[in-house]
Amino acid sequence: MTQLSPTSVKDALQSTAPIEAIRVQGWVRTRRDSKDFSFIELNDGSSLRNLQIIAKKETLPNYADIQRLSTGASISVNGALVPSQGKGQKWELVADNIDIVGTADDSYPLQKKGHTPEFLREIAHLRPRSNLFGCVFRVRSRLGFAVHQFFQERGFVYIHTPIITGSDCEGAGELFRVSTIDLNNPPRKDGEIDYAQDFFARQTYLTVSGQLEAEAFALALSKVYTFGPTFRAENSNTSRHASEFWMIEPEMAFCDLNGNMDLAEEFVKYLIADARKHCPEEMELFAKVVDKELLARLDFVLDRPFQRITYSDAVDLLKKSGEKFEFPIDYGLNLQSEHERWLTEKHFRCPVTVFNFPKEIKPFYMRVNDDGKAVAAMDLLVPGIGEIVGGSQREERLEVLEENMRRHNMDPADYKWYLDLRRYGTVPHSGFGLGFERILMFITGAPNIRDVIPFARTPGSAEF
Ligand code: 4AD
Ligand code: MG
Repeated sequence: MTQLSPTSVKDALQSTAPIEAIRVQGWVRTRRDSKDFSFIELNDGSSLRNLQIIAKKETLPNYADIQRLSTGASISVNGALVPSQGKGQKWELVADNIDIVGTADDSYPLQKKGHTPEFLREIAHLRPRSNLFGCVFRVRSRLGFAVHQFFQERGFVYIHTPIITGSDCEGAGELFRVSTIDLNNPPRKDGEIDYAQDFFARQTYLTVSGQLEAEAFALALSKVYTFGPTFRAENSNTSRHASEFWMIEPEMAFCDLNGNMDLAEEFVKYLIADARKHCPEEMELFAKVVDKELLARLDFVLDRPFQRITYSDAVDLLKKSGEKFEFPIDYGLNLQSEHERWLTEKHFRCPVTVFNFPKEIKPFYMRVNDDGKAVAAMDLLVPGIGEIVGGSQREERLEVLEENMRRHNMDPADYKWYLDLRRYGTVPHSGFGLGFERILMFITGAPNIRDVIPFARTPGSAEF
């Protein structure tokens, strides 16, 4: 190989002038032969589009080997970028030299087009080489960047909250235990396993949320956000739940529920607009192969204000809807996904923020409203998916928070540090969590969360 530094396929395709000497590297998508030529479609994942390579029999000493190249093989090509003779592309690369880096035989699973997403999930290690998943993961990367841009532009400080924690923030008991205790011979005290002898000298888990720790930082740095992996041992095998997912959790001091809802809505719109602007090629592919309505739906969401409704008004609407739901709906019950979808898809036909939920169905940290019944909670729902954001104003009054904890069968003594935040310089504060995969599903149109995570972890499945 020569020392010429490689150009990406994307940059080559976007060139404004011919280039005499260029090197590209990638994987063969297809190859076909004509009389004294071989045409190779090369892709390196930098773009949806391939670069056409012209391999000429007369100039390439290894032409016989090149003729045996099949889909999936990797090559490095030196040559000249010239205006394409063929239709459909501006440039093509006439090869001076082709190094075969790695061959692939007929057993390569991505031979033909049109594999089902289910099949591609079984080859999650190869699916990023497909058009669709290349697009999905380029959009995921771009939006990860946009998350930081959104908050950094607004003066938020990025906080790395711990992944190993001792608290169950959401109180749902969906925790993965972190332990080095010998399962075959655990230390015991009074018949029970003695976690005082475990690695951290206490029970620890993978975090279900960085919120509690983010609150401590918001009550010092005013505006913070987290963006990291989150773990839930929820045994729900749905298209929208993963056991390991990424969550973005902003937290703001001196902010009430209204300010919180404003930020959540602005954030969702920002991410949609960013993908529309920076990933046009990818968005068009999703519209073509995943969901014909996608772009119209996203643009509609961008153009209009979101709806807001209290939980009790939403329950009234649902009860009066005349719709036959599988799950019962009444004040005090959780909204099920079918209810959320009725609100966003049938009734409002746009994203809806539901707020002021009954305190019985929400975690201990949410602020109790003046009526003593509801808490200042909010869920942002979008058509096709349901909840993508959950948040609240936090209880900043020490006595009320202690009372909430007791009501949730928690011992305030276990949360001394969290209560200290109310003991010393407490302020009203709010925040929310946005499920990164949920918004990716909404933006890419992917109907299953497994298709927006590189390697999904779900109940019964942790391959790769
Ligand atoms: O509504 P949740 O449980 O809220 C919290 O964890 C709060 N501590 C957030 C906060 O106020 N800082 O989760 C927030 C979001 C959900 O709206 C959903 O988008 C996503 O996280 N989420 C999941 N995404 C994928 N798989 C799962 N199992 C998820 N559980 C929640
Ligand atoms: Mg929630």
